[in-house]
Amino acid sequence: MTAIELLKQDHDEAMMMIEQLERVEQGAQLRGSNLALFGRLKSALTMHTLVEEQILYHSLANLEETKEMIKESYDGHRTMDELLVKMSAPSQDWRAVLGELKAALQHHVREEESELFPKAERLLGGQRLQVMGRQIKNIKRGKAATA
Ligand SMILES: [Fe+2]
Ligand SMILES: [Fe+2]
Repeated sequence: MTAIELLKQDHDEAMMMIEQLERVEQGAQLRGSNLALFGRLKSALTMHTLVEEQILYHSLANLEETKEMIKESYDGHRTMDELLVKMSAPSQDWRAVLGELKAALQHHVREEESELFPKAERLLGGQRLQVMGRQIKNIKRGKAATA
């Protein structure tokens, strides 16, 4: 699989987990299996932004056509990090934070899938994206082993 295919898969999985958390009844604390689900969402998103930055953004950060977009994308990632930290503290309004996180992820996915990824495909080419896909898998495997 190419880096792009893997990253899109991450986007879909994260969105599914968010939608599942949205089904938790209003006013309920985030605990038990829902807290575990949030834990998985947090690890998955943190890993996603990490491999994206290390592998994909790294090769696009110095290209004229993508460098501005990459700068903004880094900011978007930090916003998601902050929201994940905020949601990690026990609080009644985790749902409001979840809503913000969903909006941030939607924005991230829209920009990447409609603009950045097509550019990456054109600028980097299929072969390089295959290699980058393997690198992403290796990083994920390594981190999972040490986690
Ligand atoms: Fe992404
Ligand atoms: Fe991103």
